[in-house]
Amino acid sequence: MLENQNPSKTAAWKKLQKHFLNMSSIRMKDLFKNDPDRFDKFHISFEDMVLDYSKNLINKQTISLFIQLFEECGLKESIEKMFTGDFINRTENRAVLHTALRNRSNKPVSVNGKNIMDDINSVLDKMKIFSDAVISGEKKGYTGLSFKDVINIGIGGSDLGPAMVANALTPFHTRLNVHFVSNVDPSHIVDILNMAEPATTLFLIASKTFTTLETMSNAQYARRWIIDSLGDDAVSSHFAAISTNTEKVVEFGIDKENIFHFWDWVGGRYSLWSAIGLSITLAVGFDNFTALLEGAHAMDNHFRNSPFDRNIPAILALLGIWYNNFFSAETHAILPYSQHLEFFPAFLQQADMESNGKSIDRNGNPVSYQTGPIIWGEPGTNGQHAFFQLLHQGTKMVPCDFIAPAKSLYNEPGLHIKLIANFFAQTEALMKGKSKEKVISELKENGLSQKEIDFLLPFKIFQGNRPSNTILFRQLTPRTLGSLIAMYEHKIFVQGIIFNIFSFDQWGVELGKQLAKTILNDIEGSVISNSHDSSTYNLIKMWKTMQ
Ligand code: F6P
Repeated sequence: MLENQNPSKTAAWKKLQKHFLNMSSIRMKDLFKNDPDRFDKFHISFEDMVLDYSKNLINKQTISLFIQLFEECGLKESIEKMFTGDFINRTENRAVLHTALRNRSNKPVSVNGKNIMDDINSVLDKMKIFSDAVISGEKKGYTGLSFKDVINIGIGGSDLGPAMVANALTPFHTRLNVHFVSNVDPSHIVDILNMAEPATTLFLIASKTFTTLETMSNAQYARRWIIDSLGDDAVSSHFAAISTNTEKVVEFGIDKENIFHFWDWVGGRYSLWSAIGLSITLAVGFDNFTALLEGAHAMDNHFRNSPFDRNIPAILALLGIWYNNFFSAETHAILPYSQHLEFFPAFLQQADMESNGKSIDRNGNPVSYQTGPIIWGEPGTNGQHAFFQLLHQGTKMVPCDFIAPAKSLYNEPGLHIKLIANFFAQTEALMKGKSKEKVISELKENGLSQKEIDFLLPFKIFQGNRPSNTILFRQLTPRTLGSLIAMYEHKIFVQGIIFNIFSFDQWGVELGKQLAKTILNDIEGSVISNSHDSSTYNLIKMWKTMQ
């Protein structure tokens, strides 16, 4: 069981509040000027990756006070509890063991006294055999043709992680076209089916519960599409399923051989490392999937064994708490300077907001402090031409993570160096800003009159002092991507421990699901139930008139 410690009642929190009063007026520019070794003090290297966190409103005391907070909140013990299979997901009475899925050391991990590594390895073996056979063309569809298109049907954690990874690893793609259908909006599945042929299409139905409305509706639609074209008997050759709910999968009519199992100790948003990653193995091959697992495992070891002042996830977590709970920043931007990471912010939205978007603490009481931030972001440089204006000159503090590969996997250095120049320029500009004197001298150089300068001056000044982290790695390989994802998973874990919340349940998504079921009955039936408010009632009524 995890400790129940209200962080705001700790001695460290009180000291941090005092420390904040000193730090809130500090200028990062001065911190750099007064300490030529600031970068050395505030960066951590890990394999091919570096985290530079020197452009933050912190000093060494900030870090040591947070380490005291971590100690008072029992972080070290909590980490061990997660890795060793303690039932830390209390509200669902489950262990949390996505780290075991990528435990490449194979050291035993037990749940209820049973070593789970054998089960994990046997599913991995099955994934290898299946994906090798589909990629090579040896495994064929009902009419004897090899598969060309693979369509993963899933939503939330059964979609976002695999879709993000498959897209991020485009340079490693096999011959297969792997697509992802998640939305129950018919335009999603219809547009993708229009690109495929039934005889050469393999469907993966990815659902932990095998009851999710969107996934089951799309799966039935796909089933009909296959049957209409190839007949009832074709279903077993064109569908595979990934689920913890074997009974429901069998009911759907999927061949037992094509069922890939995982376990209740894998949270949906932490499941890409399990058989839910089958679409990844088909997209990039099993060896690359293994490299992804290895990268994550290396980060797991770093997280579990490094002291907190040299621990990347712990440092990222404390910086997030610093801005969220002391500077009152509401959001956190994820800014990958990599088009291949375009889905990374959306993936982290679920990972972070579904984990830490909670307002009840582990004692069952409402929290009296802020919990998880709003996560958002877009790839650079596109974002620069959209929302960066607000980052530089808006009224809100938005801490940012800038993430980039040093080298492109495509041999186009002429383009990549421009991307990287922008990447470095933005964090420098956010930190340094632009002074009144600099603006005046530039405007003078451009020949503007004093009157014009006086008018334009306030609009052209940048206050700077806006915090950011830089995460730079050599190339976006499967191994590095695995480390990057695990790094954020553990950052989220640390924040959840400190916020004293349960990070591994998601009760907050249930209400909408329940109401949608009631409204579906209203829509399908002839009478609208009188349980609705007048807005919802009349909207349903008007919708009926639009059909
Ligand atoms: O809607 C929330 C959620 O339960 C997520 O946590 C999960 O990843 C998603 O739905 C999909 O669930 P399943 O894999 O059971 O279909």
